[in-house]
Amino acid sequence: MAPADSAFITMIACLVFFTYPYVAVSSSHMKVSSFVDSQKVNVSLYYETLSPNCTDFIVNNLTRVFDNNLISIINLRLVPWGNAYINKSNNNIVCEHGPYECQLNTVAACAIDSWHGVNTHYGLIYCIELLAIEGRYKEWQSCFDSYGLPKKPVLDCSNSANGTKLELAYANETTHLNPPHTFLPWVIVNNQPIRDDYMNFEAHVCKSYKGSVPGC
Ligand SMILES: *[C@@H]1O[C@H](CO)[C@@H](O)[C@H](O)[C@H]1NC(C)=O
Ligand SMILES: *[C@@H]1O[C@H](CO)[C@@H](O)[C@H](O)[C@H]1NC(C)=O
Ligand SMILES: *[C@@H]1O[C@H](CO)[C@@H](O)[C@H](O)[C@H]1NC(C)=O
Ligand SMILES: *[C@@H]1O[C@H](CO)[C@@H](O)[C@H](O)[C@H]1NC(C)=O
Ligand SMILES: *[C@@H]1O[C@H](CO)[C@@H](O)[C@H](O)[C@H]1NC(C)=O
Ligand SMILES: *[C@@H]1O[C@H](CO)[C@@H](O)[C@H](O)[C@H]1NC(C)=O
Repeated sequence: MAPADSAFITMIACLVFFTYPYVAVSSSHMKVSSFVDSQKVNVSLYYETLSPNCTDFIVNNLTRVFDNNLISIINLRLVPWGNAYINKSNNNIVCEHGPYECQLNTVAACAIDSWHGVNTHYGLIYCIELLAIEGRYKEWQSCFDSYGLPKKPVLDCSNSANGTKLELAYANETTHLNPPHTFLPWVIVNNQPIRDDYMNFEAHVCKSYKGSVPGC
Protein backbone atom coordinates (compact mmCIF):
# COMPACT_ATOMS: atom_id res chain seq x y z
CA MET A 1 0.00 0.00 0.00
CA ALA A 2 1.38 3.40 -0.96
CA PRO A 3 1.99 5.84 1.92
CA ALA A 4 -0.58 8.20 0.43
CA ASP A 5 -3.18 5.44 0.55
CA SER A 6 -2.50 4.58 4.15
CA ALA A 7 -2.58 8.25 5.13
CA PHE A 8 -5.93 8.50 3.39
CA ILE A 9 -7.28 5.47 5.21
CA THR A 10 -6.01 6.83 8.53
CA MET A 11 -7.77 10.08 7.76
CA ILE A 12 -11.02 8.24 7.05
CA ALA A 13 -10.61 6.17 10.20
CA CYS A 14 -10.19 9.35 12.25
CA LEU A 15 -13.16 11.01 10.62
CA VAL A 16 -15.31 7.96 11.25
CA PHE A 17 -14.09 7.71 14.82
CA PHE A 18 -14.92 11.29 15.61
CA THR A 19 -18.14 11.68 13.66
CA TYR A 20 -19.84 8.36 14.33
CA PRO A 21 -20.59 7.88 18.03
CA TYR A 22 -21.52 4.20 17.69
CA VAL A 23 -18.09 3.38 16.35
CA ALA A 24 -16.12 5.09 19.07
CA VAL A 25 -14.74 2.15 21.06
CA SER A 26 -13.44 3.05 24.48
CA SER A 27 -10.03 1.71 25.46
CA SER A 28 -11.54 -0.57 28.12
CA HIS A 29 -13.17 -2.51 25.31
CA MET A 30 -10.06 -2.87 23.18
CA LYS A 31 -9.12 -6.27 24.59
CA VAL A 32 -12.50 -7.66 23.62
CA SER A 33 -12.22 -6.16 20.13
CA SER A 34 -9.03 -8.08 19.44
CA PHE A 35 -10.66 -11.53 19.58
CA VAL A 36 -10.14 -13.37 16.34
CA ASP A 37 -13.12 -13.59 14.03
CA SER A 38 -13.56 -17.34 14.40
CA GLN A 39 -14.60 -16.92 18.05
CA LYS A 40 -17.26 -14.40 17.15
CA VAL A 41 -20.95 -15.08 16.69
CA ASN A 42 -22.13 -14.83 13.08
CA VAL A 43 -25.14 -12.60 12.65
CA SER A 44 -26.62 -12.15 9.18
CA LEU A 45 -29.35 -9.65 8.44
CA TYR A 46 -31.42 -10.17 5.30
CA TYR A 47 -33.21 -6.92 4.64
CA GLU A 48 -34.33 -4.34 2.11
CA THR A 49 -33.56 -0.68 2.51
CA LEU A 50 -37.07 0.83 2.52
CA SER A 51 -39.11 -1.73 4.45
CA PRO A 52 -40.44 -0.10 7.64
CA ASN A 53 -39.75 -3.30 9.63
CA CYS A 54 -36.14 -3.20 8.49
CA THR A 55 -35.52 0.51 8.97
CA ASP A 56 -36.97 0.34 12.51
CA PHE A 57 -34.93 -2.71 13.40
CA ILE A 58 -31.67 -1.28 12.06
CA VAL A 59 -32.02 2.19 13.52
CA ASN A 60 -33.61 1.35 16.88
CA ASN A 61 -32.29 -2.09 17.74
CA LEU A 62 -29.33 -3.32 15.69
CA THR A 63 -27.34 -0.09 16.01
CA ARG A 64 -27.26 -0.54 19.76
CA VAL A 65 -24.51 -3.18 19.45
CA PHE A 66 -22.14 -0.45 18.27
CA ASP A 67 -23.08 1.57 21.33
CA ASN A 68 -22.77 -1.21 23.94
CA ASN A 69 -19.84 -2.77 22.04
CA LEU A 70 -21.50 -6.16 21.60
CA ILE A 71 -20.29 -5.72 18.01
CA SER A 72 -16.84 -6.75 19.29
CA ILE A 73 -18.05 -10.39 19.51
CA ILE A 74 -20.21 -10.34 16.36
CA ASN A 75 -19.37 -10.95 12.72
CA LEU A 76 -22.18 -8.84 11.30
CA ARG A 77 -23.17 -9.43 7.67
CA LEU A 78 -25.79 -7.33 5.97
CA VAL A 79 -27.52 -8.72 2.89
CA PRO A 80 -29.48 -5.95 1.15
CA TRP A 81 -31.88 -7.77 -1.17
CA GLY A 82 -34.91 -8.84 0.85
CA ASN A 83 -38.05 -9.48 -1.19
CA ALA A 84 -36.67 -8.13 -4.46
CA TYR A 85 -36.88 -10.46 -7.45
CA ILE A 86 -35.85 -10.65 -11.07
CA ASN A 87 -38.48 -10.05 -13.70
CA LYS A 88 -37.97 -13.05 -15.97
CA SER A 89 -39.28 -11.29 -19.08
CA ASN A 90 -36.75 -8.44 -19.10
CA ASN A 91 -34.18 -9.47 -16.44
CA ASN A 92 -34.78 -6.27 -14.47
CA ILE A 93 -34.66 -6.27 -10.70
CA VAL A 94 -38.02 -5.45 -9.13
CA CYS A 95 -38.06 -4.21 -5.53
CA GLU A 96 -40.91 -4.33 -3.04
CA HIS A 97 -40.83 -0.57 -2.42
CA GLY A 98 -40.09 0.53 -5.97
CA PRO A 99 -37.05 1.37 -8.09
CA TYR A 100 -35.57 3.75 -5.51
CA GLU A 101 -35.28 0.83 -3.12
CA CYS A 102 -33.37 -1.13 -5.76
CA GLN A 103 -30.96 1.79 -6.07
CA LEU A 104 -30.46 2.05 -2.30
CA ASN A 105 -30.05 -1.73 -1.92
CA THR A 106 -27.28 -1.48 -4.51
CA VAL A 107 -25.70 1.49 -2.73
CA ALA A 108 -25.64 -0.58 0.47
CA ALA A 109 -24.11 -3.55 -1.37
CA CYS A 110 -21.47 -1.25 -2.86
CA ALA A 111 -20.67 0.30 0.53
CA ILE A 112 -20.14 -3.19 1.99
CA ASP A 113 -17.91 -4.09 -0.94
CA SER A 114 -15.96 -0.81 -0.83
CA TRP A 115 -15.31 -0.86 2.91
CA HIS A 116 -15.17 -4.37 4.30
CA GLY A 117 -14.87 -3.08 7.88
CA VAL A 118 -18.34 -3.21 9.35
CA ASN A 119 -17.71 -0.09 11.44
CA THR A 120 -17.24 1.89 8.23
CA HIS A 121 -19.98 0.54 5.96
CA TYR A 122 -22.49 0.38 8.80
CA GLY A 123 -22.18 4.15 9.21
CA LEU A 124 -23.46 4.75 5.70
CA ILE A 125 -26.15 2.07 5.96
CA TYR A 126 -27.38 3.42 9.31
CA CYS A 127 -27.50 6.95 7.90
CA ILE A 128 -29.60 5.85 4.90
CA GLU A 129 -32.02 3.94 7.13
CA LEU A 130 -32.38 6.91 9.46
CA LEU A 131 -33.23 9.13 6.49
CA ALA A 132 -35.73 6.48 5.35
CA ILE A 133 -37.51 6.65 8.72
CA GLU A 134 -37.63 10.42 8.36
CA GLY A 135 -39.00 10.12 4.80
CA ARG A 136 -35.88 11.80 3.41
CA TYR A 137 -34.12 8.82 1.80
CA LYS A 138 -33.68 10.74 -1.45
CA GLU A 139 -31.08 12.80 0.42
CA TRP A 140 -28.95 9.66 0.86
CA GLN A 141 -25.89 11.26 -0.73
CA SER A 142 -25.61 13.59 2.27
CA CYS A 143 -24.59 10.51 4.27
CA PHE A 144 -21.12 10.49 2.72
CA ASP A 145 -20.33 13.91 4.12
CA SER A 146 -22.06 13.19 7.44
CA TYR A 147 -19.76 10.23 8.00
CA GLY A 148 -16.66 11.58 6.29
CA LEU A 149 -16.73 8.84 3.67
CA PRO A 150 -15.63 9.28 0.05
CA LYS A 151 -18.52 9.05 -2.45
CA LYS A 152 -16.57 7.90 -5.43
CA PRO A 153 -16.06 4.18 -4.78
CA VAL A 154 -19.73 3.68 -3.94
CA LEU A 155 -21.12 5.80 -6.79
CA ASP A 156 -18.77 4.21 -9.34
CA CYS A 157 -19.95 0.81 -8.17
CA SER A 158 -23.68 1.54 -7.87
CA ASN A 159 -23.82 3.19 -11.29
CA SER A 160 -22.08 0.31 -13.01
CA ALA A 161 -22.43 -3.39 -13.64
CA ASN A 162 -20.36 -3.98 -10.49
CA GLY A 163 -23.30 -2.94 -8.33
CA THR A 164 -25.69 -5.20 -10.24
CA LYS A 165 -23.28 -8.11 -9.88
CA LEU A 166 -23.15 -7.65 -6.10
CA GLU A 167 -26.94 -7.51 -5.93
CA LEU A 168 -27.30 -10.66 -8.03
CA ALA A 169 -25.00 -12.52 -5.63
CA TYR A 170 -27.15 -11.34 -2.71
CA ALA A 171 -30.26 -12.39 -4.67
CA ASN A 172 -28.83 -15.85 -5.13
CA GLU A 173 -27.87 -16.12 -1.47
CA THR A 174 -31.27 -14.89 -0.28
CA THR A 175 -33.26 -17.21 -2.53
CA HIS A 176 -31.15 -20.19 -1.38
CA LEU A 177 -31.87 -19.57 2.30
CA ASN A 178 -32.84 -22.86 3.92
CA PRO A 179 -35.34 -22.53 5.49
CA PRO A 180 -36.47 -19.64 3.26
CA HIS A 181 -37.20 -16.28 4.84
CA THR A 182 -40.89 -15.71 5.47
CA PHE A 183 -40.75 -12.03 6.43
CA LEU A 184 -38.25 -9.21 6.91
CA PRO A 185 -36.00 -8.48 8.65
CA TRP A 186 -34.74 -12.08 8.66
CA VAL A 187 -31.97 -12.55 11.20
CA ILE A 188 -29.73 -15.61 11.37
CA VAL A 189 -27.50 -16.22 14.39
CA ASN A 190 -24.85 -18.93 13.81
CA ASN A 191 -26.95 -20.62 11.10
CA GLN A 192 -30.18 -20.50 13.13
CA PRO A 193 -32.92 -18.17 11.88
CA ILE A 194 -34.36 -16.50 14.97
CA ARG A 195 -37.56 -15.63 13.11
CA ASP A 196 -39.99 -13.38 14.97
CA ASP A 197 -37.63 -13.14 17.94
CA TYR A 198 -35.28 -10.92 15.90
CA MET A 199 -35.72 -7.97 18.26
CA ASN A 200 -34.05 -10.11 20.93
CA PHE A 201 -31.06 -10.98 18.76
CA GLU A 202 -28.66 -9.78 21.47
CA ALA A 203 -29.87 -12.56 23.81
CA HIS A 204 -29.27 -15.09 21.03
CA VAL A 205 -25.78 -13.69 20.47
CA CYS A 206 -24.93 -13.97 24.16
CA LYS A 207 -26.28 -17.53 24.34
CA SER A 208 -24.17 -18.54 21.32
CA TYR A 209 -20.99 -16.90 22.53
CA LYS A 210 -18.51 -19.24 24.19
CA GLY A 211 -17.04 -16.89 26.73
CA SER A 212 -18.03 -14.03 28.92
CA VAL A 213 -18.19 -10.51 27.69
CA PRO A 214 -19.43 -7.24 29.13
CA GLY A 215 -22.93 -6.54 27.85
CA CYS A 216 -24.15 -10.14 27.97
C1 LIG B 1 -36.31 -2.13 19.65
O1 LIG B 1 -36.44 -0.73 19.47
C2 LIG B 1 -37.72 -0.21 19.86
C3 LIG B 1 -37.75 1.26 19.50
O2 LIG B 1 -36.71 1.95 20.12
C4 LIG B 1 -37.88 -0.43 21.36
O3 LIG B 1 -39.18 0.01 21.76
C5 LIG B 1 -37.77 -1.91 21.66
O4 LIG B 1 -37.82 -2.10 23.05
C6 LIG B 1 -36.45 -2.46 21.13
N1 LIG B 1 -36.46 -3.90 21.34
C7 LIG B 1 -35.54 -4.49 22.07
C8 LIG B 1 -35.73 -5.96 22.27
O5 LIG B 1 -34.58 -3.91 22.52
C1 LIG C 1 -41.68 -7.39 -16.33
O1 LIG C 1 -41.20 -7.09 -17.61
C2 LIG C 1 -42.23 -6.96 -18.59
C3 LIG C 1 -41.57 -6.79 -19.96
O2 LIG C 1 -40.72 -5.66 -20.00
C4 LIG C 1 -43.12 -5.79 -18.22
O3 LIG C 1 -44.16 -5.66 -19.17
C5 LIG C 1 -43.69 -6.03 -16.83
O4 LIG C 1 -44.46 -4.91 -16.42
C6 LIG C 1 -42.58 -6.28 -15.83
N1 LIG C 1 -43.14 -6.63 -14.53
C7 LIG C 1 -42.82 -5.99 -13.41
C8 LIG C 1 -43.46 -6.48 -12.16
O5 LIG C 1 -42.03 -5.04 -13.40
C1 LIG D 1 -15.59 -2.84 -11.16
O1 LIG D 1 -14.85 -3.79 -10.41
C2 LIG D 1 -13.57 -4.08 -10.95
C3 LIG D 1 -12.99 -5.21 -10.16
O2 LIG D 1 -13.15 -5.04 -8.79
C4 LIG D 1 -12.73 -2.82 -10.92
O3 LIG D 1 -11.45 -3.07 -11.46
C5 LIG D 1 -13.42 -1.72 -11.71
O4 LIG D 1 -12.70 -0.50 -11.60
C6 LIG D 1 -14.85 -1.52 -11.19
N1 LIG D 1 -15.55 -0.60 -12.08
C7 LIG D 1 -16.18 0.49 -11.59
C8 LIG D 1 -16.88 1.34 -12.60
O5 LIG D 1 -16.20 0.76 -10.39
C1 LIG E 1 -25.79 -19.36 -5.23
O1 LIG E 1 -25.93 -19.71 -3.87
C2 LIG E 1 -25.63 -21.05 -3.58
C3 LIG E 1 -25.99 -21.32 -2.12
O2 LIG E 1 -25.57 -20.29 -1.27
C4 LIG E 1 -24.16 -21.29 -3.86
O3 LIG E 1 -23.83 -22.64 -3.61
C5 LIG E 1 -23.89 -20.97 -5.33
O4 LIG E 1 -22.50 -21.08 -5.58
C6 LIG E 1 -24.35 -19.57 -5.67
N1 LIG E 1 -24.26 -19.32 -7.09
C7 LIG E 1 -23.72 -18.22 -7.59
C8 LIG E 1 -23.74 -18.10 -9.07
O5 LIG E 1 -23.24 -17.34 -6.88
C1 LIG F 1 -43.14 -6.87 9.63
O1 LIG F 1 -43.08 -7.44 10.92
C2 LIG F 1 -44.29 -8.05 11.35
C3 LIG F 1 -44.16 -8.48 12.79
O2 LIG F 1 -42.85 -8.84 13.11
C4 LIG F 1 -44.58 -9.24 10.41
O3 LIG F 1 -45.79 -9.85 10.79
C5 LIG F 1 -44.71 -8.71 8.99
O4 LIG F 1 -44.89 -9.81 8.10
C6 LIG F 1 -43.44 -7.97 8.60
N1 LIG F 1 -43.60 -7.35 7.30
C7 LIG F 1 -42.90 -7.75 6.24
C8 LIG F 1 -43.17 -7.02 4.97
O5 LIG F 1 -42.06 -8.65 6.27
C1 LIG G 1 -18.93 -17.95 11.18
O1 LIG G 1 -18.67 -17.79 9.80
C2 LIG G 1 -17.36 -18.13 9.41
C3 LIG G 1 -17.22 -17.85 7.92
O2 LIG G 1 -17.68 -16.59 7.62
C4 LIG G 1 -17.09 -19.58 9.70
O3 LIG G 1 -15.76 -19.88 9.39
C5 LIG G 1 -17.35 -19.85 11.18
O4 LIG G 1 -17.22 -21.23 11.41
C6 LIG G 1 -18.75 -19.41 11.56
N1 LIG G 1 -18.92 -19.57 13.01
C7 LIG G 1 -19.92 -20.26 13.53
C8 LIG G 1 -19.90 -20.39 15.03
O5 LIG G 1 -20.81 -20.75 12.86
